[in-house]
Amino acid sequence: MYRIGKEEIEACARVINSKNLFKINDGAREVMHFEAELCEKMGVRHSILMTSGKAALISGLVGMGIGPGDEVIVPAYTYIATAIAVTAVGAIPVIADIDESLTLDPSDFESKISKYTKAVIPVHIQGFPCNMDKISEIAKKHGIYILEDACQSVGGSYKGKRLGTIGDAGAFSFNYFKIITAGEGGALMTNSREIFERALIYHDSSAIAYFGNQLDSITEEQFCGSEFRVSEFTGAILREQLKRLDSILYDLRRNKAYLLDKFDGRYSFIRSNDLLGDCGTTLAFWFDTEYEAIEFKRKADTAGYPATRPIDTGKHVYTNWTPIMNKKGAFNPAFDPFLMEANRDLNHRYTPDMCAKSLEYLKRAVYIMVDPDMDERGLNKLADALK
Ligand SMILES: Cc1ncc(COP(=O)(O)O)c(C=O)c1O
Repeated sequence: MYRIGKEEIEACARVINSKNLFKINDGAREVMHFEAELCEKMGVRHSILMTSGKAALISGLVGMGIGPGDEVIVPAYTYIATAIAVTAVGAIPVIADIDESLTLDPSDFESKISKYTKAVIPVHIQGFPCNMDKISEIAKKHGIYILEDACQSVGGSYKGKRLGTIGDAGAFSFNYFKIITAGEGGALMTNSREIFERALIYHDSSAIAYFGNQLDSITEEQFCGSEFRVSEFTGAILREQLKRLDSILYDLRRNKAYLLDKFDGRYSFIRSNDLLGDCGTTLAFWFDTEYEAIEFKRKADTAGYPATRPIDTGKHVYTNWTPIMNKKGAFNPAFDPFLMEANRDLNHRYTPDMCAKSLEYLKRAVYIMVDPDMDERGLNKLADALK
């Protein structure tokens, strides 16, 4: 979370005063307005606000018709929720390497495609845009869907297009740690009417027909879904947060650019697929050896500027995805994708060293988080300390 205040308090008061806390009402319709405002800002036709980023990923996969018998390619470096979303629909996550941008390596993605592959989930991790030109070209060639995980990159872009709107669908997270937040929340975005309709039905257990008239123009047949609805508070808070998005990104990018300039030539940084579209949340130093990375982190911490090596970010690294690595896909074995007959011949061979290249990159990078509210004096102090 970066900024929150009076406007969000007033938005919550607005909801309480209306006494319409449920999203389908005759009052302010905060959720509905947020969805329209998000579509407008991102330049996408449909969006659905829901409980979390993971809910949005699951709904997107359902919208694509993905299930048992299908493989979905995910990068070795992403929050575990990306891979678990795949198992949630009964499909199998296939783990591919990242490259020096710390995002999905297009050539490893292509090498992992099999006759069972139905989709790929490129993850714009830490605000770093994936190489969407290459990924889109490969996905098109093999006829597979792209579901962008832009949970950590709300508002970022790749070659002028907003992250999450380039593939067939995209997911945002609005949990507490994200660029804009309502504490929890997520959104699915798509230009596909088919994906939208199925996700709409799925995210609200088909009950939307009972509570309102959202299904009036829906042609997809109803099916049993989940329950990912949000209250009007989430919509109201996020409407205010969305108004802050451009200025948060502007300040993050300005401060990141300032620091990059200060270090010019002195350090290396991870390769960016689009530095202008990068969200600016993370300054990612790049070292030749793990030892140098560890030493840099130690010295930065000692200087009072906490640093993080991505290899140490727990459930963001595939080796720590315990239920996936142990192939425990569900509590009830009958629901476990790893035990399903339809998935018997699929690629679910997971070993700690299967993406050794990714581990090597994650060991050699060090993050310093960018503060959008740090002034020039603070930035100079930070730069001097790190030098
Ligand atoms: C890359 C990525 N994907 C998916 C998610 C899941 O989002 P949520 O926590 O809103 O379900 C997160 C959240 O941390 C994330 O960072």
